[in-house]
Amino acid sequence: MIVCSCNVIMKNEIEGVIIDLLKKDAWQLITPGVVYHSMKKRGRCCGCFPNVISIIVDTTERFHRELETPDEKIIPFIQKIRAEHERCETARMIARHNRMRRSAA
Ligand code: FES
Repeated sequence: MIVCSCNVIMKNEIEGVIIDLLKKDAWQLITPGVVYHSMKKRGRCCGCFPNVISIIVDTTERFHRELETPDEKIIPFIQKIRAEHERCETARMIARHNRMRRSAA
């Protein structure tokens, strides 16, 4: 399934990069930017980022479940990832809104 139509990136490619990153550091905070940088790609329209974030969350949770990481460590970590992504997404939307307002003025 194609997740990023601008770069023609498939879901399994993204999952593979996330797994490779987690093998290097299982507790790192992975963002769409980190994933795309690892693939030597970059977000263009960034419309795929919400889906990439969902893939990051699901893949990270699955990775830790396979490692049998205890729930008391997985759950706060996944919550931290979701919160950080929501914070970034809000900042991105505010920046986009401000750019549109400036270009309309
Ligand atoms: S759809 Fe991924 S950058 Fe546009």
